[in-house]
Formats: sequence, structure tokens, C-alpha cells
Amino acid sequence: MKKPQVVFECSNCGAQSTKWAGQCAECGKWGTIAQGVVAASSGASQTASKPGKTQSFSELVSQEQAPRTATGFGPWDRLLSGGLVAGSVTLLGGEPGIGKSTLLAQAAIASAAKGAAVVYVTGEESPSQVALRLKRLSPALPPSLSFLDETDALTIAATIEMTKPGLVIVDSVQAMRHADVPGEAGSISQVKASAAVVSAAAKKANVPVILVGQVNKDGDLAGPRLLEHLVDTVVMMEGDRQQSFRLLRVVKHRFGATEDVALFAMKESGLEEVLDPSAALLADRPKNVSGTVVSCLMEGSRPLLVELQALVTPAGFGTPMRRVSGVELNRTGLLLAVLGRRAGFGFGDQDAFVNTIGGVEAKDPSVDLAVCLALASAKADKPLPEDLVAWGEVGLAGELRPVGRQEARLKEAARLGFKTALVPAQKEPIQAPAGLRVVQCAMLKEAIRTAIPGVL
Ligand code: TYD
Ligand code: MG
Repeated sequence: MKKPQVVFECSNCGAQSTKWAGQCAECGKWGTIAQGVVAASSGASQTASKPGKTQSFSELVSQEQAPRTATGFGPWDRLLSGGLVAGSVTLLGGEPGIGKSTLLAQAAIASAAKGAAVVYVTGEESPSQVALRLKRLSPALPPSLSFLDETDALTIAATIEMTKPGLVIVDSVQAMRHADVPGEAGSISQVKASAAVVSAAAKKANVPVILVGQVNKDGDLAGPRLLEHLVDTVVMMEGDRQQSFRLLRVVKHRFGATEDVALFAMKESGLEEVLDPSAALLADRPKNVSGTVVSCLMEGSRPLLVELQALVTPAGFGTPMRRVSGVELNRTGLLLAVLGRRAGFGFGDQDAFVNTIGGVEAKDPSVDLAVCLALASAKADKPLPEDLVAWGEVGLAGELRPVGRQEARLKEAARLGFKTALVPAQKEPIQAPAGLRVVQCAMLKEAIRTAIPGVL
């Protein structure tokens, strides 16, 4: 048998090298390289032993039909197509303070109220802090809701295997530590190793486990999304911490569709599902103001109407400012260039700001046309019609390109009382819902002219 091989591993990016160095050659961080050991492969594994047994796929039960247990917290169960599958591992990701612990506290209370033994592993916060939150949400807590004050991943895994609770919540993966792995809690190798042993225990004991994962500013889950492949389901919580709206989105689901989203409002009594998201997002629309327009996003299979706002002011010296929130900065730069070259709306000496309302992320190209209309309306200081809704991708030639799920978008706009939908021209006929007039435009310039008469 060969000797175990010594390797050096960076605790930030996981890069391995044969020599120690002060700075990681991959990620450039200083003082992150520590010694690790890779088990030597034994000579025996080189030669094949017994053949594996192949089986027909048709005899396997589809994972979509895997039995699941509802937690009793409605929106969460609906998003996961019915609830949690036994032995599955779900990762709930989101920025600090967004409401992950609140959401899981509500799910834990609902599940325990149905009689399930729920174990809340506290690591990031003290048990009394978690208890305070739980009691705020439900003054009389179900007795089957217990906590485990532990950060050692092996102990957590052993507890899952020995006691087999109905549901385990680990808050959070960054707080866990695996004793056999070098590095601090929260480092890449620690998060990977800890999540792996807990997942293995979940599978072995057939217990559903929810892991909380802190996401940094760049949207990475503890580094380069390193846990996504390890878990069965990934649910992300998005939104602006300053605003009350939170969007819950399933990004990966081995046991069902990832088409649905849920919108919540953060209230004194925890997260409350918003049953009509489009109406809620448009509730406080300003009237008769330039630079605002409504567009329609698709969140999975759900249409979501969202207000976009733009503000344009004369720039001072130097490069004009471009600031956005909720839309892509680079995409906005490109749209400003297209507006200048193809539609006669130059912004070279103007600062431009674009926002979505409610902290909604409108990052797909279907909002291009609405961003352009908001900017044009802001620059001309002429309001767009209040009952107008617009979507479509804008090309570099200033042409408008159709986007998918047109029918669903039109229906949502009609449902909320919009009278005109400005959309890219298309060859196939468009079925307009009752009360909604659909206006097709082939070019951006034409769309601006239609929406804001007299500007071009
Ligand atoms: P939290 O769930 O702890 O966020 P995370 O676990 O993602 O870091 O809390 C999010 C915020 O919500 C926090 O600032 C307090 C607030 N909050 C409420 O407004 N209402 C409530 O009922 C609770 C429990 C928290
Ligand atoms: Mg938390």
C-alpha cells in the first residue's frame, strides 16, 4: 500500500497544491493554505473486482412520486410539491438577515404542531435567541419541538442517525465544524465536509434535513455554490432587507418542479404569504409621474407584474453615473447605448438611475423594453399612460424581440386592469384577453413614439 499523500489546501477556494505557500495561487488570499492528507489509493482498487449489477430503469419508482411529508407550513409545502421527502436534504440559501431563520422557525412550529419530532440545531445563534424568535411566532410551543446546541458535524450526524427525528433543521452550515478537517468553521473545506456527513446521516436514517446556507453579496453559497450538487433541493430567499417583500424560489428540486415561487411580507408575526403578488407590488404606484412603467416578469410559471422606475439628471464633470437596483447594471448600460444610437435618446451627459419596486430582481431581458421606456419617459419628463404595461427584449439594432409565455403575461396584465400591452411584433397571431389592447411594435423607436406621443 502506498503512503498517504500530503497535500496543501486553501481554506478559501479549496485549491490543492503539493507545496505550502503564503498566498494561494488560485484565489490570491493570504494565509489560507493548510496541510491536509489525501488517503492513498490502495493498489488493489486498480484491478477490477466483481462486476456491478445493472437494473432496468423502468422498474425504478419515479422520484417525483416519492412519498413526502407536509410540514404544515402551506407555502413551503406547495413550493416543494407537497412537502419534504424522507431522507432528502434541502438547502435554504439567502443573505444574512433576509428571514431564513424566521421561515424555518415557522415551518418547525407547524411541523411540530402536527406531532412530528422536530430538532432545531442551533449553531449560529444561542438556543435562547432561537427560543425567543419561536415564542414570538407562537407563544405556546409544541412539546415535540426541541433543540440541539451543537456545532460538531459528527455529533449532529450521530444524533440524526440514532434518534431519527421527523425533521431536522441545521441553522447554519457555516456554523458547523468537522473535527477531522482542517480550517475554520465556514471555510470551504469545512462546509463541504460538514454538509457531507450530515447529508449521509439524513440518507441513512431516512430523515428529512434542512440546511441553512448564508449567501454572500455575490450570491455565492459559502463559496462557489459548492453545496448545490450535494443536496437534493435548493431553495433561495431573495429580496431587499429594507423592504418587506421576500421571494422564495426553488432553484433545484430532485423530487418535483422548480416552476413555482412564493412571495412573503415580513410582518411582526413572521412571514406572511402574499396571495396576490402582482397587486401587492403595484399597490403604491405613484400617479402621473414620469419615468415609471409596469412590466411583467415570469417567475417560474408565474407571471409577476413589477414597477420599474428611472430618474435622469444632468451629470456633473467626468463620466456620468449609472446606478441600478433590481436590474442588471451592464444590461442597462447597453440599453442606454441603444437608446442613444437607435432611438435618438442620448444619455451621454446625464446621470441615469433605474430601480425595481419591492426589491424584486428583474434580471431577464424581457424587461428591456420597460427599462428603455422608463428612461425615455424620465428624460422627456413625460409620464407614460398609467394603464400601460410593456415587455420585450431589445436588440443592438434597436429591434424588439418577442419573449416567451406571452399569453400568461397578457392574462396577468388584464386581470389587474391594464388596458394596453406594448409588446414586440411577432408573426404568430396574439390572443388578447378581454379588455386588453395589444399593440405590437417592431422597433424601439416606434414603441417609444407609441407610448409617449410627441417625443420623437
Ligand atoms: P432572520 O430570520 O434571523 O434572518 P436570517 O436567518 O436570514 O439571517 O431575521 C430577519 C429579520 O426579520 C430580522 O431583522 C428580524 C425580522 N423579524 C420580523 O420582522 N418579524 C418577525 O416575526 C421575526 C421573527 C423577525
Ligand atoms: Mg439566521
